[in-house]
Amino acid sequence: MTSILLVTSSPRGAESLSTRFAAEIAEGLKARLGGVLLTRDLATNPPPHITEAYIHGRVTPPEARTPEQVKAVALAQQLVDEVKAADVIVLGSGMINFGPSSQLKAWFDHITWPGVTFGYGEDGRPRGTLTGKKVYLVTAAGGVFSEGDWAPFDFQTGNLRHLLGFIGLTDIEIIQVEGTVFGPEAAKAAIAATEAQVRSVLEKAA
Ligand SMILES: Cc1cc2nc3c(=O)[nH]c(=O)nc-3n(C[C@H](O)[C@H](O)[C@H](O)COP(=O)(O)O)c2cc1C
Repeated sequence: MTSILLVTSSPRGAESLSTRFAAEIAEGLKARLGGVLLTRDLATNPPPHITEAYIHGRVTPPEARTPEQVKAVALAQQLVDEVKAADVIVLGSGMINFGPSSQLKAWFDHITWPGVTFGYGEDGRPRGTLTGKKVYLVTAAGGVFSEGDWAPFDFQTGNLRHLLGFIGLTDIEIIQVEGTVFGPEAAKAAIAATEAQVRSVLEKAA
Protein backbone atom coordinates (compact mmCIF):
# COMPACT_ATOMS: atom_id res chain seq x y z
CA MET A 1 0.00 0.00 0.00
CA THR A 2 1.40 3.38 -1.02
CA SER A 3 1.49 6.05 1.63
CA ILE A 4 1.34 9.59 0.18
CA LEU A 5 2.05 12.73 2.18
CA LEU A 6 0.81 16.03 0.71
CA VAL A 7 2.48 19.08 2.27
CA THR A 8 1.07 22.47 1.28
CA SER A 9 2.50 25.77 2.43
CA SER A 10 1.26 28.75 0.42
CA PRO A 11 -0.40 31.52 2.43
CA ARG A 12 -2.53 32.45 -0.64
CA GLY A 13 -5.35 30.06 0.19
CA ALA A 14 -7.66 29.03 -2.65
CA GLU A 15 -5.66 31.14 -5.15
CA SER A 16 -2.49 29.15 -4.59
CA LEU A 17 -1.20 27.37 -7.67
CA SER A 18 1.39 25.30 -5.80
CA THR A 19 -1.38 23.98 -3.54
CA ARG A 20 -3.66 23.32 -6.50
CA PHE A 21 -1.09 21.39 -8.53
CA ALA A 22 0.41 19.56 -5.54
CA ALA A 23 -3.10 18.42 -4.54
CA GLU A 24 -3.80 17.31 -8.13
CA ILE A 25 -0.64 15.22 -8.15
CA ALA A 26 -1.27 13.70 -4.71
CA GLU A 27 -4.89 12.86 -5.50
CA GLY A 28 -3.99 11.60 -8.98
CA LEU A 29 -1.30 9.32 -7.52
CA LYS A 30 -3.74 7.97 -4.95
CA ALA A 31 -6.31 7.28 -7.68
CA ARG A 32 -3.70 5.41 -9.72
CA LEU A 33 -1.66 3.65 -7.04
CA GLY A 34 -4.24 3.26 -4.26
CA GLY A 35 -3.10 3.57 -0.66
CA VAL A 36 -3.53 6.39 1.80
CA LEU A 37 -3.16 10.16 1.49
CA LEU A 38 -2.33 12.35 4.47
CA THR A 39 -2.40 16.14 4.10
CA ARG A 40 -0.27 18.47 6.19
CA ASP A 41 -1.49 22.00 5.52
CA LEU A 42 1.21 24.31 6.87
CA ALA A 43 -0.70 27.45 5.90
CA THR A 44 -3.82 26.82 7.98
CA ASN A 45 -1.90 25.00 10.71
CA PRO A 46 1.62 26.48 10.72
CA PRO A 47 4.34 25.07 12.93
CA PRO A 48 5.65 27.78 15.28
CA HIS A 49 9.07 29.31 14.88
CA ILE A 50 11.52 27.05 16.64
CA THR A 51 12.50 28.01 20.17
CA GLU A 52 15.22 27.38 22.72
CA ALA A 53 12.96 24.71 24.25
CA TYR A 54 12.91 22.84 20.95
CA ILE A 55 16.62 23.28 20.17
CA HIS A 56 17.75 21.98 23.57
CA GLY A 57 14.85 19.55 24.01
CA ARG A 58 15.50 17.67 20.79
CA VAL A 59 19.03 16.71 21.92
CA THR A 60 18.07 16.04 25.56
CA PRO A 61 17.11 12.47 26.56
CA PRO A 62 13.27 12.21 26.73
CA GLU A 63 13.24 11.53 30.50
CA ALA A 64 15.29 14.68 31.20
CA ARG A 65 13.15 17.10 29.15
CA THR A 66 11.23 19.99 30.79
CA PRO A 67 7.46 20.11 30.11
CA GLU A 68 8.07 22.94 27.61
CA GLN A 69 10.72 20.86 25.82
CA VAL A 70 8.40 17.83 25.76
CA LYS A 71 5.73 19.90 24.00
CA ALA A 72 8.17 21.43 21.50
CA VAL A 73 9.74 18.08 20.63
CA ALA A 74 6.36 16.31 20.34
CA LEU A 75 5.36 18.46 17.37
CA ALA A 76 8.71 17.91 15.64
CA GLN A 77 8.37 14.16 16.26
CA GLN A 78 4.89 14.16 14.73
CA LEU A 79 6.11 16.01 11.64
CA VAL A 80 9.08 13.66 11.26
CA ASP A 81 6.86 10.60 11.75
CA GLU A 82 4.60 11.79 8.93
CA VAL A 83 7.55 12.02 6.54
CA LYS A 84 8.98 8.68 7.73
CA ALA A 85 5.65 6.93 7.13
CA ALA A 86 5.38 8.24 3.55
CA ASP A 87 6.56 6.45 0.42
CA VAL A 88 5.79 9.50 -1.69
CA ILE A 89 5.85 13.15 -0.63
CA VAL A 90 4.20 15.88 -2.67
CA LEU A 91 5.40 19.27 -1.52
CA GLY A 92 3.85 22.56 -2.68
CA SER A 93 5.77 25.82 -2.30
CA GLY A 94 4.89 29.32 -3.49
CA MET A 95 7.65 31.92 -3.75
CA ILE A 96 7.41 34.64 -1.12
CA ASN A 97 10.12 37.31 -1.36
CA PHE A 98 12.34 35.06 -3.47
CA GLY A 99 12.26 32.07 -1.13
CA PRO A 100 9.76 29.58 0.31
CA SER A 101 7.09 30.80 2.74
CA SER A 102 8.08 31.10 6.39
CA GLN A 103 5.52 28.36 7.15
CA LEU A 104 7.51 25.93 5.01
CA LYS A 105 10.79 27.13 6.50
CA ALA A 106 9.37 26.38 9.97
CA TRP A 107 8.46 22.84 8.85
CA PHE A 108 12.02 22.22 7.68
CA ASP A 109 13.34 23.71 10.94
CA HIS A 110 11.34 21.03 12.80
CA ILE A 111 12.16 18.04 10.63
CA THR A 112 15.87 18.78 10.12
CA TRP A 113 16.89 17.09 13.37
CA PRO A 114 20.44 16.02 14.19
CA GLY A 115 20.65 12.36 15.17
CA VAL A 116 17.13 11.74 13.86
CA THR A 117 16.82 12.85 10.24
CA PHE A 118 20.48 13.51 9.56
CA GLY A 119 23.89 12.67 10.95
CA TYR A 120 27.48 12.62 9.75
CA GLY A 121 29.35 9.61 8.36
CA GLU A 122 32.92 8.65 9.28
CA ASP A 123 34.08 10.66 6.28
CA GLY A 124 32.51 13.77 7.84
CA ARG A 125 29.86 14.02 5.16
CA PRO A 126 26.22 14.57 6.10
CA ARG A 127 23.94 11.55 5.83
CA GLY A 128 20.19 12.02 5.62
CA THR A 129 18.10 9.20 7.06
CA LEU A 130 14.79 9.70 5.21
CA THR A 131 15.93 7.69 2.22
CA GLY A 132 14.02 5.60 -0.32
CA LYS A 133 11.17 8.02 -0.87
CA LYS A 134 10.00 9.85 -3.98
CA VAL A 135 9.39 13.60 -3.77
CA TYR A 136 7.31 15.67 -6.18
CA LEU A 137 8.20 19.31 -5.52
CA VAL A 138 5.73 21.83 -6.95
CA THR A 139 7.13 25.37 -6.99
CA ALA A 140 5.16 28.45 -7.99
CA ALA A 141 6.55 31.92 -8.66
CA GLY A 142 5.18 35.11 -10.15
CA GLY A 143 8.33 35.83 -12.12
CA VAL A 144 10.41 33.64 -14.41
CA PHE A 145 13.44 32.07 -12.75
CA SER A 146 14.13 28.94 -14.81
CA GLU A 147 16.13 31.07 -17.26
CA GLY A 148 17.03 34.69 -17.93
CA ASP A 149 18.12 37.66 -15.84
CA TRP A 150 16.21 36.62 -12.73
CA ALA A 151 17.53 33.06 -12.56
CA PRO A 152 20.19 33.94 -9.93
CA PHE A 153 17.45 35.19 -7.61
CA ASP A 154 15.53 31.91 -7.27
CA PHE A 155 16.20 31.21 -3.59
CA GLN A 156 13.30 28.79 -3.51
CA THR A 157 14.02 25.81 -5.77
CA GLY A 158 17.69 25.20 -4.95
CA ASN A 159 17.07 25.88 -1.28
CA LEU A 160 14.29 23.29 -1.11
CA ARG A 161 16.22 20.74 -3.16
CA HIS A 162 19.18 21.13 -0.78
CA LEU A 163 17.08 20.92 2.40
CA LEU A 164 15.28 17.82 1.14
CA GLY A 165 18.53 16.16 0.08
CA PHE A 166 20.20 16.96 3.41
CA ILE A 167 17.68 14.76 5.24
CA GLY A 168 17.90 11.98 2.64
CA LEU A 169 15.13 12.96 0.23
CA THR A 170 17.21 12.96 -2.93
CA ASP A 171 14.77 11.47 -5.47
CA ILE A 172 13.08 14.74 -6.41
CA GLU A 173 10.98 15.60 -9.45
CA ILE A 174 10.27 19.30 -9.85
CA ILE A 175 7.04 20.64 -11.31
CA GLN A 176 7.12 24.39 -11.86
CA VAL A 177 4.61 27.11 -12.47
CA GLU A 178 6.20 30.47 -13.12
CA GLY A 179 5.69 33.73 -14.98
CA THR A 180 2.12 34.30 -13.81
CA VAL A 181 2.45 38.06 -13.12
CA PHE A 182 2.82 39.24 -16.70
CA GLY A 183 -0.88 39.54 -17.52
CA PRO A 184 -3.79 37.13 -18.03
CA GLU A 185 -2.48 35.60 -21.27
CA ALA A 186 0.94 34.83 -19.78
CA ALA A 187 -0.72 33.39 -16.66
CA LYS A 188 -2.97 31.20 -18.80
CA ALA A 189 0.00 29.87 -20.77
CA ALA A 190 2.01 29.27 -17.58
CA ILE A 191 -0.84 27.33 -16.01
CA ALA A 192 -1.39 25.29 -19.20
CA ALA A 193 2.30 24.37 -19.23
CA THR A 194 2.10 23.17 -15.63
CA GLU A 195 -1.09 21.22 -16.33
CA ALA A 196 0.86 19.37 -19.03
CA GLN A 197 3.67 18.64 -16.53
CA VAL A 198 1.14 17.27 -14.04
CA ARG A 199 -0.44 15.02 -16.69
CA SER A 200 2.99 13.69 -17.63
CA VAL A 201 3.89 12.98 -13.97
CA LEU A 202 0.66 11.04 -13.48
CA GLU A 203 1.01 9.11 -16.74
CA LYS A 204 4.51 8.03 -15.73
CA ALA A 205 3.32 6.95 -12.30
CA ALA A 206 0.41 4.85 -13.60
C1 LIG B 1 3.75 38.29 -0.21
C2 LIG B 1 4.12 37.82 -1.58
C3 LIG B 1 5.44 37.88 -1.97
C4 LIG B 1 5.81 37.46 -3.24
N1 LIG B 1 7.12 37.49 -3.61
C5 LIG B 1 7.47 37.14 -4.87
C6 LIG B 1 8.84 37.18 -5.27
O1 LIG B 1 9.73 37.52 -4.52
N2 LIG B 1 9.13 36.84 -6.55
C7 LIG B 1 8.17 36.41 -7.42
O2 LIG B 1 8.50 36.09 -8.56
N3 LIG B 1 6.87 36.33 -7.06
C8 LIG B 1 6.51 36.68 -5.80
N4 LIG B 1 5.20 36.61 -5.42
C9 LIG B 1 4.23 36.02 -6.35
C10 LIG B 1 4.06 34.54 -6.00
O3 LIG B 1 5.29 33.87 -6.05
C11 LIG B 1 3.08 33.86 -6.94
O4 LIG B 1 1.78 34.43 -6.71
C12 LIG B 1 3.03 32.38 -6.74
O5 LIG B 1 2.04 31.84 -7.57
C13 LIG B 1 2.79 32.04 -5.27
O6 LIG B 1 2.62 30.67 -5.10
P1 LIG B 1 1.14 30.10 -4.86
O7 LIG B 1 0.37 30.32 -6.13
O8 LIG B 1 1.34 28.67 -4.55
O9 LIG B 1 0.53 30.85 -3.72
C14 LIG B 1 4.82 36.99 -4.14
C15 LIG B 1 3.48 36.94 -3.73
C16 LIG B 1 3.14 37.34 -2.46
C17 LIG B 1 1.69 37.24 -2.03
